[in-house]
Amino acid sequence: MKSRTGERMSVQYKTSWSDLVTEVDTAVEQAVRAEILARFPDHGFLGEEGGGGWEHEYTWVLDPLDGTTNFAHTLPNFVCSLACYKGREALVGAIYDPSRDELFSARRGDGAWLNGARIQVDPAATLQESLIGTNLMWDMREGRALNLPGMIELGMQVRGIRSLGAAALEMAYVACGRFTAYVQWRLSPWDYGAGALLVAEAGGRVSKYDGTDLDPTQRSSVLASNGKVHAEIVRYLLKHPCE
Ligand code: IPD
Ligand code: CA
Ligand code: CA
Repeated sequence: MKSRTGERMSVQYKTSWSDLVTEVDTAVEQAVRAEILARFPDHGFLGEEGGGGWEHEYTWVLDPLDGTTNFAHTLPNFVCSLACYKGREALVGAIYDPSRDELFSARRGDGAWLNGARIQVDPAATLQESLIGTNLMWDMREGRALNLPGMIELGMQVRGIRSLGAAALEMAYVACGRFTAYVQWRLSPWDYGAGALLVAEAGGRVSKYDGTDLDPTQRSSVLASNGKVHAEIVRYLLKHPCE
């Protein structure tokens, strides 16, 4: 495949033809891993491409390129997402969108920012005013289509549903109020780590689909919202549970 600037780019299949990895995913992960471990040699590091675990007091969690399919097709919605945990608690998180030069960042107890300006979740109090992000097809292909009836019913109630194809970007958009909520049936710790802290620090709420707390070390369903429409969305998602 070719990049936006016309250069040849190596793209490989991971688990299937719809699960890609490019040379940029691996190069970014290697560079960030080396930089972090050079600065913090006693910290742990978990990356989507290079693996890792949670056995250290501090753990950095990286998705080097979230939205790889977009990137491989020269679409602009892709980001790099990094979070640092102490135990199971996220301390800092950052999501960078190079296409728009937007840096979303958050520090526990201190708030969330977009390019240095404080951000807050959407004030919408009803589903009718809500714009929701999700990526239905990804889950359906993995045989988890049962969330569809609930999403269709929810879709009838909200202002609109959008699918940007990059979980971390979509959670950053919840944090800054562009989306009212984001729902995804199954995400990995690197997809949602920084986004979850951003949303919480911007005044929103993050949980599993059933409203219970996330375990940041596990693959999980994720509902990130402005908090006000959270319980109502959980109600729709639980109408057709599949976990
Ligand atoms: C994927 C994207 C996609 C989401 C998937 C993720 P990747 O991450 O965020 O929107 O639906 O669950 O795995 O593979 O582009 O890093
Ligand atoms: Ca990802
Ligand atoms: Ca990725």
